[in-house]
Amino acid sequence: MVENLHIVVLAAGEGTRMNSAAPKVLQTVGGRPMLAHVLDTAESLDPAAIHVVHGAGGGQVREVFGDRAVTWVHQSERRGTGHAVQQAMPGIPDGARVLVLPGDHPLLPTGLLRELLAAPRDSLALLTMTLDDPGSYGRIRRDGEGDVVGIVEQRDASAEELAITEVNTGILAAPAERLAGWLERLSDNNAQGEFYLTDIVGFARSDRVAIHGVRAAEADDLHGANDRAQLAQLERRLQAREVSRLMAAGAQVLDPARCDIRGTVKVGRDVLIDVNVVFEGQVQLGDGVSIGANCVLIDCDLAAGTRVHPMSVLQGVTTTGACDIGPFARVRPGTTLGPGSRVGNFVEVKNTRLGSDSKASHLSYLGDSEIGDGVNIGAGTITCNYDGVNKHRTVIEDGAFIGSDSQLVAPVKVGKDATVAAGTTLTRDAPAGKLTVSRAKQVTVDGWKRPKKKES
Ligand code: UD1
Ligand code: CA
Repeated sequence: MVENLHIVVLAAGEGTRMNSAAPKVLQTVGGRPMLAHVLDTAESLDPAAIHVVHGAGGGQVREVFGDRAVTWVHQSERRGTGHAVQQAMPGIPDGARVLVLPGDHPLLPTGLLRELLAAPRDSLALLTMTLDDPGSYGRIRRDGEGDVVGIVEQRDASAEELAITEVNTGILAAPAERLAGWLERLSDNNAQGEFYLTDIVGFARSDRVAIHGVRAAEADDLHGANDRAQLAQLERRLQAREVSRLMAAGAQVLDPARCDIRGTVKVGRDVLIDVNVVFEGQVQLGDGVSIGANCVLIDCDLAAGTRVHPMSVLQGVTTTGACDIGPFARVRPGTTLGPGSRVGNFVEVKNTRLGSDSKASHLSYLGDSEIGDGVNIGAGTITCNYDGVNKHRTVIEDGAFIGSDSQLVAPVKVGKDATVAAGTTLTRDAPAGKLTVSRAKQVTVDGWKRPKKKES
């Protein structure tokens, strides 16, 4: 742990290049705002405080992160990264060590930040990376001895400097008093008319403060996103990382490039994930679970052996044993499916418990229901759970048989081993063990003739 560490997160940029109504740090990677990732990383370093500099759309940012234990610093005018850090300095005590993190670098590995912080406390430590195409990053200038002597922004760089492939990640650590002094000396006499944080390197050198340029061996996780194309690259990078984790835990992912995780997925062994599967929120898959092609799973906890067949969408679903879901099933929050149960094609289930070995194989809507064990729900069954104002429950006890095309008008109960005949509209409880039918009696009309076309 680094003593008295104060982290300043720069999040005031408008992100003009994103061409969005939302501020840049709210653009998402892996389903979460970039700033959420940066704050998680910052928290993992166990700092004394985290100061978030916000500006453009700051209200929106604060709303999203209202529950985080951070100090909000307002930068009313966007006058550059140096100016942004300066706004946070009044809240940072003398003797502190300041770590600056750009809010638009969501994949920062904690390990690398620790490496940077391993540099002496009284030095200026800079995290750098080497890129084949240094693009718009600031270039790191080193002298003949290899010591860092400055950072030059792309737009201020000479042709010779543009060729430098070692670039500034935007991440640095410095002692608070020194940093405050350097920030006061910044000028905006440059191509962008901004107060560049990067200019402090020159001051550190003239003040003879040691400068540690820590080169990251791997640049992939250090990139920032200024536009949508870079955001998409970060997304792919994060997805590759998440899917590798699943595979390491024992999942067979048929195409790692076609599985997206926007949240946290925990898997048992021998889980099979077919192509084009999207996970969101918290998902747990027990041993041997299989997920068919083109499924979306949000906040689900599936027991060992559960099979989700192609084209199914599940949200807030728990299975308590091996069962079958889909193809083409829509299973909504509050649903629990027992072992041996089956939710088939074009079946929608919401806030319902389906017991062991109970089946709804085709074309049904089951909402707000309590369904026992060994129940058969015929094709086209609908629980009429909504009277236009309130929702009501349907209870179907063990062993009941619901004939096809039945409507169960809730609140209503079907007793144990009861049979509801096909086409029944059930408005009162169906007693246990009996056949209940509500249908006009079938008649056959003798001597009836089909009408014939009139001759004109
Ligand atoms: C900056 C660095 C560059 C580095 C790159 C790494 C400077 C001058 N340049 O350039 O050397 O290679 O990051 O990604 O520091 N911000 C504010 N207030 C401001 C300006 C920016 O909070 O007034 C925030 C932005 O929201 C962003 C971060 O600071 O999160 C970096 O700003 P950005 O404009 O993206 O800087 P780059 O041009 O990428
Ligand atoms: Ca940037």
